[in-house]
Amino acid sequence: MAARALFSAPPALYAIPPLSSLASRAHRILLSNHFHVGPLSFSSTRRRCHHRACTDDSKGSTNFDSFVLTTPLYYVNAPPHMGSAYTTIAADAIARFQRLLGKKVIFVTGTDEHGEKIASAAEANNKSPKEHCDVISQAYRTLWSDLQIEYNEFIRTTDLKHETVVNEFYARVLDSGDIYRADYEGLYCVNCEEYKDEKELTENKCCPVHLKPCLLRKEDNYFFALSKYQSKLEELLTNNPEFVKPSFRLNEVQGWIKSGLRDFSISRASVEWGIPVPNDTKQTIYVWFDALLGYISALLEDGEKPNLQKAVSSGWPASLHLIGKDILRFHAVYWPAMLMSAGLDVPKMVFGHGFLTKDGLKMGKSLGNTLEPTDLVNRFGADAVRYFFLREVEFGNDGDYSEERFINIVNAHLANTIGNLLNRTLGLLKKNCESTLLFDSIEAAEGNGFKDTVEKSVEMARYHYENLAFSSACESVLDIGNAGNLYIDEHAPWSCFKKGGEIAEMAAKDLVVILEALRIMAVALSPVAPSLCARIYAQLGFTEDQFKSITWADTKWGRLQAGQQMMDPKPIFAKIEIKTEEELKEASPKAVKGPKKGSRTQGLVEA
Ligand code: MSP
Repeated sequence: MAARALFSAPPALYAIPPLSSLASRAHRILLSNHFHVGPLSFSSTRRRCHHRACTDDSKGSTNFDSFVLTTPLYYVNAPPHMGSAYTTIAADAIARFQRLLGKKVIFVTGTDEHGEKIASAAEANNKSPKEHCDVISQAYRTLWSDLQIEYNEFIRTTDLKHETVVNEFYARVLDSGDIYRADYEGLYCVNCEEYKDEKELTENKCCPVHLKPCLLRKEDNYFFALSKYQSKLEELLTNNPEFVKPSFRLNEVQGWIKSGLRDFSISRASVEWGIPVPNDTKQTIYVWFDALLGYISALLEDGEKPNLQKAVSSGWPASLHLIGKDILRFHAVYWPAMLMSAGLDVPKMVFGHGFLTKDGLKMGKSLGNTLEPTDLVNRFGADAVRYFFLREVEFGNDGDYSEERFINIVNAHLANTIGNLLNRTLGLLKKNCESTLLFDSIEAAEGNGFKDTVEKSVEMARYHYENLAFSSACESVLDIGNAGNLYIDEHAPWSCFKKGGEIAEMAAKDLVVILEALRIMAVALSPVAPSLCARIYAQLGFTEDQFKSITWADTKWGRLQAGQQMMDPKPIFAKIEIKTEEELKEASPKAVKGPKKGSRTQGLVEA
């Protein structure tokens, strides 16, 4: 690189112009830029979120570039835990990425509120089912807000519009001749809300996921003729291998279908808390048959007269159902067959991710081995939580949580690689260039291989986001930070500024180059760590509105321009420190009551 060759020459060979020449360039640029003109031309329109944080429009028709994605509708037997938050964080990253691409996104989430499991939880809490559901459903909304989840629709299966859709759908399936009445006897897992095949159970007839005994149940129920759809489902998977992702889960689904599909019961005679079966109020609709339809009823506007067709034309079929692997059979076998029976399109893709585990066991409400997401957010901030789980767990596989690993990762990546790079670059800019860019980033990067590295990494990040490989996407973005740190170490602009003249000019260009790279990182990492990236943008002198209107096109090199005034450096992510009991007492003698040894603290920073 030309710039580096210059530095290897002894300084005495250069006639060093006074340092003040750079300062006067900064001064001239400042004078000609009294008014801050945003250097970016923004092209996207943001989508309306029904969530309080968002304001634009996302609904209506799906006749142009739309992207409809869903999380599972969470059971409200207990408040959310980190396992439930995991799917939603991933879905939010996808929604944000798709919005950056300019897609009209409808991001659906919600709560699954009927059935035996919920009724029992309400009873245990001495509440009516509805009261219980109201409280827990709200706990989900609160957590989504804490985690900066920008969903568009939140459906509750107790919503009236949902019941209308379920009734209409049931009628269509009945019309297709796919519902019949029969007796059934089998082993039931209340936590899964599913009859189990004896061969999938553990030795003591326990559910392999919840490790609780399955109960023998005998009922007279309505059944859905799933077996009729065997060949249609086989055809679906053969013609659309993308329907189930990752591909190893497709094999699993194909295996289930191949082994023969059995009709399943879609009503319960013994469960009162549910939607009554049309024309037979002694039975309620099976909670899964009910809940899956929430993906469609969610598409209805609140206040409009609900009907199935209206919901369907507002965005169905979904582009992507994001789910955990435990509920794959419902989404990739039962659900498409139900839709086919009702004459509706099947979703375009079902992605089954792995479990967050603790000591190798699925983290869950039923096993009681959960991790509190609110606690993590309060201690470390939403960005750290979002970043850690998306970066650390290969999406699709299981991942075990460890606090030590959490702290190491977020400190190394967010505080050091990104935060320090920004901090020291802005520090140098303040000291040497009055916090003003002296060159356009395109000019500054002329003939510089670093720009190519950034461009390649950002392309890779996009590719990985498109394939829902969040860990690799984060890695590609961090590659830019690592390359930036290396660049600045090698170029040592702090000493080049002292030399003045062309060398100092090169140093001023180097700072622009690094800041442009950081700007690009902020765009590319924004689906994962939105607040952190907003803080980066703010320090680079952009307004909040400018950050809100970024698109993926803004990952292109060249948006920072000469004259742009940067803010004073402030840490964008404070390193998480492990403090001893004594240090905590010293820091705040009154606030600390019997502090635990080895407490972790992070001063959350807002720029
Ligand atoms: N109510 C059903 C879904 C109906 S969708 C129409 C349900 N709810 S759940 O609350 O039990 O689970 C919701 C999602 O959270 C599932 O995708 C499940 O895989 C996910 N997770 C629950 N615990 C989890 C982990 N420990 N790790 C990762 N995801 C986990 O199933």
